[in-house]
Amino acid sequence: MSRDPLSITRRNFVRVTAGAAGVLGTGLLSACEPDPAGLSVSPQFAKGGGGGGKGGGQGGSARNPLRIPPTQAPTGVLTAAPAEVDLGGGVRSRVWAYNGQFPGPTLVAPTGSRADMTFVNGLSHESITHWHGMIVDTPNDGHPREAVPPGGSYVYDYPIIQRASLNFYHPHPHGMTGEQVAMGLAGAYLIRDDDEAALGLPSGPHEVPLIVRDATFDRNGNMQYKPRSGGFEGNTPLVNGTLDPALSVDTGVYRFRILNGCNARILRFAFSDGTPFVLIGNDGGFLEASVSLSEITICPAERLDVLVDLRGHAPGTSLMLQDLNTGWDLLELTVDRSVADGTAIPGALYPIERLTAPVRTREFSFDGMSKINGQVYDMARVDFQVPFGETELWRFTTNGNAPHPVHVHGAYYQVVSRSGGRARLYPWEGGWKDTVLLEDGETVEILIRFDGYRGLYLMHCHKLEHEDMGMMSNFEVV
Ligand code: C2O
Ligand code: CU
Ligand code: CU
Repeated sequence: MSRDPLSITRRNFVRVTAGAAGVLGTGLLSACEPDPAGLSVSPQFAKGGGGGGKGGGQGGSARNPLRIPPTQAPTGVLTAAPAEVDLGGGVRSRVWAYNGQFPGPTLVAPTGSRADMTFVNGLSHESITHWHGMIVDTPNDGHPREAVPPGGSYVYDYPIIQRASLNFYHPHPHGMTGEQVAMGLAGAYLIRDDDEAALGLPSGPHEVPLIVRDATFDRNGNMQYKPRSGGFEGNTPLVNGTLDPALSVDTGVYRFRILNGCNARILRFAFSDGTPFVLIGNDGGFLEASVSLSEITICPAERLDVLVDLRGHAPGTSLMLQDLNTGWDLLELTVDRSVADGTAIPGALYPIERLTAPVRTREFSFDGMSKINGQVYDMARVDFQVPFGETELWRFTTNGNAPHPVHVHGAYYQVVSRSGGRARLYPWEGGWKDTVLLEDGETVEILIRFDGYRGLYLMHCHKLEHEDMGMMSNFEVV
């Protein structure tokens, strides 16, 4: 092992602190210090009610219009660099952004097309982009071995071979992923296909990506990374990079594509007035059937595809999307227009092949905050080999320090059991997954089969500070 992972985290901490006081210290906000509990909202951000007001009730909103990132095909140049962005209402903040956008542009591509993108590193640290959830070969996966230095670039070129889904692009350099994501580098990546089109789901302004994350700002209002080994938790929620956002909606059906973009926080979504989510998909695309839920809990990097039916809501009212874990108001929906919307809420969606009959079992223990099976990540070491095309059962356990969101590159999997702890599976853990929440005392079993590509891939904890400290493993599909 060549590097002490804890020292990397410490170095990042010092560097960001120095940067915030100097080069990045150009924001306009007055003093605010994050509170140690990480839950309160700094005063200048609290006016719109982001600190956990009751939410809902009357129409109109003093909140900021929800930002919708621009969409584009996964072609051309994607540059990661410092940028100054408007978080809403003229609140300027220095962040790190893809193509100057926070979050980055939403990439949209149909199955069967090709992605051809050049990543350009405009940061002062090495970086590389990973397309979380995309089934690509090793050279296109953004492995930390491929990280490029400041000023460097990396050409991606791969076919899109998977079904419709919401994915997540973000940096993946060794030991610095947490910092780069927290500073703003992340974006949504939508794959479209004919099955999706056949469902006639809400589209255009009725399909809205929601990248939900927490953030901490320095006293100048600039994005700040203050990691703790237990995970970075910011004191302010952002949706699509907007502070205290509101979305003006009509009395129709909306499709929200939700990503937990936090480094470490688990989010427990609910609407203030009990309006249900009709869950139709998750990480790997559609579930077999929709299910109506009053609350949904997801860990970092998990995704949700939900329909929200506002046909029973009167114009002039509003409802608040909240996080029940913190009490945060995340996004106000203000019902401003009446429309006739004939959208059919689908029941059955698409059949999913069940993985069965695993040919072998592997055990993975998530130890402390930096190890898998007792080992800290070593970029040069390959920890195990998996035969291509064979179904395996992987059993995840932990000796503490959870939550550990367990993510695997290179294949989707099916979660088959959880024992100990919560001792059950949830509707949002059906279908195809690439990230699953492992809490203290739990054993989670998945079935996985690599049938995309042979090559080097990663498994890691998606609490990004755990990943950076070494809770990650290289494996090879052979
Ligand atoms: Cu979203 Cu290897 O990560
Ligand atoms: Cu990934
Ligand atoms: Cu972890």
